[in-house]
Amino acid sequence: MRLSVIGTGYLGAVHAACMAHIGHEVVAYDTDASKIAALSAGTSPFYEPGFDELLATVLATGRLRFTQSAQEAVSGATVHFVCVGTPQLAGSDAANIEYVDSAFRAVVANADCDGLIVGKSTVPVGTAQRLSAEVAKTSSGLEVAWNPEFLREGKAIEDTLQPDRLVFGVTSEYAEKTLQEVYGALLDGGTPYLTADLPTSELVKVAANAFLATKISFINAMAEVCEIVDADVTVLSRALGYDDRIGKRFLNAGLGFGGGCLPKDIRAFSARAGELGASDALRFLHEVDKINLRRREKAVSVARAIVGGEFLGKSIAVLGAAFKPNSDDVRDSPALNVAAAMHLKGADVRVHDPKAIDNAKARFPTLGYFDSAEDACRKADLIVLATEWDEYTNIDPEAFRSLVKEPRLLDTRNVIDRETWSRAGWQVYSLGRGGLHV
Ligand code: UDX
Repeated sequence: MRLSVIGTGYLGAVHAACMAHIGHEVVAYDTDASKIAALSAGTSPFYEPGFDELLATVLATGRLRFTQSAQEAVSGATVHFVCVGTPQLAGSDAANIEYVDSAFRAVVANADCDGLIVGKSTVPVGTAQRLSAEVAKTSSGLEVAWNPEFLREGKAIEDTLQPDRLVFGVTSEYAEKTLQEVYGALLDGGTPYLTADLPTSELVKVAANAFLATKISFINAMAEVCEIVDADVTVLSRALGYDDRIGKRFLNAGLGFGGGCLPKDIRAFSARAGELGASDALRFLHEVDKINLRRREKAVSVARAIVGGEFLGKSIAVLGAAFKPNSDDVRDSPALNVAAAMHLKGADVRVHDPKAIDNAKARFPTLGYFDSAEDACRKADLIVLATEWDEYTNIDPEAFRSLVKEPRLLDTRNVIDRETWSRAGWQVYSLGRGGLHV
């Protein structure tokens, strides 16, 4: 099938490459010249394991092209995927859906045959129905469907080619059959799919993210209690996780969630609920958000106490800037947020990250950045492990001891083997595991 993909950010670029990989002809469009140039040359504008290789393979087949011309992408295609971002609106909790609206307009203006416009962006519930009515008014032979995306950064290819499920928000048999054809290779491979009406399909995505955020904040709330009574949240989490009804995934206590999705999606969901007169139903998400942000404050206050109650004149190494490992994304990164807060309070903050330094520098240019964890940790009064890259969990505590001024480590992600580090002479502090009355 001939597909167009509108928007080549994280979602669009990966979706376009994966659709070409399963045999479709794909032309992907973006207004950003640098993204189009990089992708056309086979270079990913972001770090995603396996993506450069996938891009090279599909570009070589000739089935994938990138363009800055909406007309080139849209004309001739029968299915158009809208994959543009819906960032948080400045000064509000709501999502900014102007890019979605203009993507739909671009498809309607350039389509030269009947087809399906498939929204993949995360939008406030009700958006698809509105767009569907607007597209219908143009009597262009185009129809609207919604097909939310659940991909995680770092696992984006796997999540696109072997998703847990596909959700088809459709209003006709034609739309359902078309999506079945698009995803035929995945459905043949056993991926389950559900059809839904448009609002349900939009809700699946925001409800899933709200649930995941709530699960993380639940265990982080338990961490707060553990800190007071000197209990261990990692043991608590493991014990809870054995209960199949609870499940062990997304129950890692630490610095909480960040990134370009969970924080803004729970806020946009609450804001939308308010518009719909359902504020009470989602009021708990505000608490989920607050618990999450409190973890960052706690990390900063514990770090300050560890270095003697005053950041001024102290050197703090922060290991990790990305919002999670295997990503170079620093949007709403808890690690970088903590680093910046300590810097603002007077600490000399020395940051290392295996992939996210350039993005971090662009956001917080005044922090110190280092190309190796060793250099960042040299003469440090404290190391704060803030993103759980394998590189950091594999650090040899003996070797690092000779680098630092004081052998003190704050493990905000609960990934360090505390006994090994303690045996090597380190004072180890961990969020949610007691012993934090410093
Ligand atoms: C998320 C959803 O998982 C995905 O389905 C959706 O499409 C987009 O948003 P992503 O933002 O890539 O994906 O990251 P995810 O793996 O969900 O992690 C989100 C944050 O939660 C990270 O900051 C991570 O460090 C944190 N997290 C995750 C925890 O603090 N504890 C956990 O147990 C799990």
